[in-house]
Amino acid sequence: MNSRPAQNCLEGRTALVTGASRGIGFAIAGALAGAGAGVVVTARDPDGVTAAVAQLRDAGARAAGCAGSVADPAHLDRCTALAVREFGRLDILVNNAATNAPYGPLMEADPDQWRQAFAVNVEAALRLVQLAWRAWMREHGGAVVNICTEGTHGAGPRVGAYGTSKAALRHLTQQLAGELAPAVRVNAVSPGLVRTEMARFVWEGAERRIAEGLPLGRIGEPDDVARAVLWLVSDESAWVTGADLLVDGGTRVRAAAGTGSYAVHDQLRATSSPERSP
Ligand SMILES: NC(=O)c1ccc[n+]([C@@H]2O[C@H](COP(=O)([O-])OP(=O)(O)OC[C@H]3O[C@@H](n4cnc5c(N)ncnc54)[C@H](OP(=O)(O)O)[C@@H]3O)[C@@H](O)[C@H]2O)c1
Repeated sequence: MNSRPAQNCLEGRTALVTGASRGIGFAIAGALAGAGAGVVVTARDPDGVTAAVAQLRDAGARAAGCAGSVADPAHLDRCTALAVREFGRLDILVNNAATNAPYGPLMEADPDQWRQAFAVNVEAALRLVQLAWRAWMREHGGAVVNICTEGTHGAGPRVGAYGTSKAALRHLTQQLAGELAPAVRVNAVSPGLVRTEMARFVWEGAERRIAEGLPLGRIGEPDDVARAVLWLVSDESAWVTGADLLVDGGTRVRAAAGTGSYAVHDQLRATSSPERSP
């Protein structure tokens, strides 16, 4: 909500942001609304959706909410239909909702939870792009951003299902970018560690150590990611598609900064089960 977008650069457009009741998704919804877009926000908890919509409207935004899981195809139909019914169009789609379950060594992973991870983190994104394409984007154009993770560049402790599904989402981004051009631009944003509930089990109690190991000296805030998404869905990035924009405080280049060991992996190793597994 604190982002400072180019004034009204999304005026008259409509955005659908999944997983937008808190954290990065809520910051994205606020940034897009602040730039003039009407926004549809989704999440599973209806109270969270209601509160997010109320907060956006209090800030002067045009906002509507749709509660349900992105793993449910009927919910995705409802979200798309709501955007078109409420605002008359669907120009922007941000696939942000995700799960980090099953967490732990892959030899102990429950195959049903593994399948669910792919339903939430990958399949829902494709289904929503298909729906948005048919409802609006094929004819009128649009922009899609998929929220991946900095962690897809290599393997990490206990995050095999999350990393594998996010790597698939990054590949899906590139494939769709090629297939849907020139009508629709499809890009990814890959955040490093950001101060949200999903990642609380990583940063809480270790933030100072983690920050000291990052070239830019701090963990991320949801608005850091929201500003990148805003740029990628705006006309400022009109010649950018298929990109994976790292927003990670220098996490990937930390070896050259000589800032020491990677405290995020130490935290992941030390956690057997995060309290929150969205
Ligand atoms: N935080 C980080 O350090 C970090 C780093 C890299 C990438 N990311 C990515 O950033 C994105 C946002 O994560 P976050 O950290 O902001 O998480 P968060 O604070 O836990 O928020 C997650 C949001 O998604 C919703 N959600 C979860 N599962 C859902 C489902 N199945 N269907 C619909 N909505 C769902 C949650 O609401 P309900 O619980 O009510 O459904 C909530 O609104 C994710 O794609 C995540 O992988 C985060």
